[in-house]
Amino acid sequence: MHIILIRLLVIGAIGSPILFGACESDGADEPAVLMAPNLSAPTEVTASSFFVDWPFIEGADGYQIDVARDEAFTDFVEPYQGIRHNFSEFTVSDLEPATTYYVRVRSISRDLVSDNSNVVSVTTINASGSEPGSPLKDAAEFSVGMAVQVNKLNGQHQEILLREYDQITSEYEMKMNIMYPSEGNLDFTQSDATVNWAVENGLDVHGHALIWHNATPTWVEEFSGTDQEFETMIEDYIKTTVTRYKGKVKSWDVVNEAFEDVGGVLRNSVFREKMGDDYIEKCYRWTREADPDVLIFYNDYNMVTHPVKRTAALNMVKDFLDRGVPIDGFGYQMHISHDNPSKEAIESAAKEVTDLGLLLHFSELDVRANPANDLEVLTIQRANYQQNKVREVVEVYNAIPEESKFGITIWGMKDDETWLLEFWGHPDWPLLYNADFSFKRAHTGFLEGLE
Ligand code: G3I
Repeated sequence: MHIILIRLLVIGAIGSPILFGACESDGADEPAVLMAPNLSAPTEVTASSFFVDWPFIEGADGYQIDVARDEAFTDFVEPYQGIRHNFSEFTVSDLEPATTYYVRVRSISRDLVSDNSNVVSVTTINASGSEPGSPLKDAAEFSVGMAVQVNKLNGQHQEILLREYDQITSEYEMKMNIMYPSEGNLDFTQSDATVNWAVENGLDVHGHALIWHNATPTWVEEFSGTDQEFETMIEDYIKTTVTRYKGKVKSWDVVNEAFEDVGGVLRNSVFREKMGDDYIEKCYRWTREADPDVLIFYNDYNMVTHPVKRTAALNMVKDFLDRGVPIDGFGYQMHISHDNPSKEAIESAAKEVTDLGLLLHFSELDVRANPANDLEVLTIQRANYQQNKVREVVEVYNAIPEESKFGITIWGMKDDETWLLEFWGHPDWPLLYNADFSFKRAHTGFLEGLE
């Protein structure tokens, strides 16, 4: 039987070529099409193993798996050289820690063998569980922080926090609605637990956030006293809280997100209504009066992508600097996407802060891999895009003047814990670790940005 192998190149969903061999024979058989597998990004990465899978191939009765130490597949890892496996998933084991491996697979059916799949690479973790080149806190010349919740300051969360990070931000338990739940009732239970954990473990604390319209207790929103009584209550809350954590909380987001998304104007929060447009200035002065050493920041989102909003916020900060209103830094939250904003836009916006001689904090970094909700799983291609964007963000930050470096804070640990899932209501994988605590390509991107 005369077989002519016709190869058609089909660019797969993840952009890697899928070759499938269409064989035409002079026999009566229908042309056999045996597609090459399309590998997903390896997961369950340990110091000695990883898991790889691919969609089942119609007509295949098995697969041949190659694992090598080089992308050219000249240095195979025994016994993974064409090893046969019946199912479309596979755990590669008995590997060395902190080593990069390359994987490719072929479909087989009787005497037919497809072309090679796309090649995926994976780096096994250190015996300690960390990525080669990490921990991040040692690789960086600035603080590397993470948003935390008190009920997760233990187990594997704690293990990674202590290994990789030197600063924490409370994701929500140091906000007014938690610390001041009812009139006359300050409740520092959660904030104390957070700060005490950090002090005991030698991490810095970035306080977030004394005043935020989205975390204002109902009783404050519906305050029934006079405006002066309101202002006195706010002054008392700020000074009591900042004094309590003097010497323990290194920095505070005093006011968070004071500007509208569009128009470059202040939000009409209850603080502005009852204390006047200069409520922000008053809060910064009170914070400084309570603690002459704490670093005080203004913090907001969309600071790169919304120039009108950024300019309004920066004009406020410039006015503070001109009039001697205490402020030390500006937090760009950096809730961004794999494809936006550009590195140039981030660089340019960052310079507008560092040109003022202020500290710059990338304060809430997460990088949406699925902003258009076009994915149901994190593909290799999108994981790569996300890795590139994380690298760009870190490269930009690493290049700012030393005197402006404060830190980068990642807004959560594992993809399955991100606030974005509830906020957008569709799948996404915006952080540096998979749900199983294994680090992602995005984590590698952070390290690459520090090189
Ligand atoms: O953990 C409790 C749970 O025990 C309880 O059953 C549940 C229902 O009440 O609440 C859970 O706490 C929630 C917490 O997120 C953890 O999921 C709080 O109610 C909820 O208010 C809190 O939302 C936080 C939000 O700020 C409001 O504080 C998000 O985690 C946090 O990611 C988000 O972060 C903000 C920044 O502070 C400012 N920039 C924007 C960013 C995203 O909105």
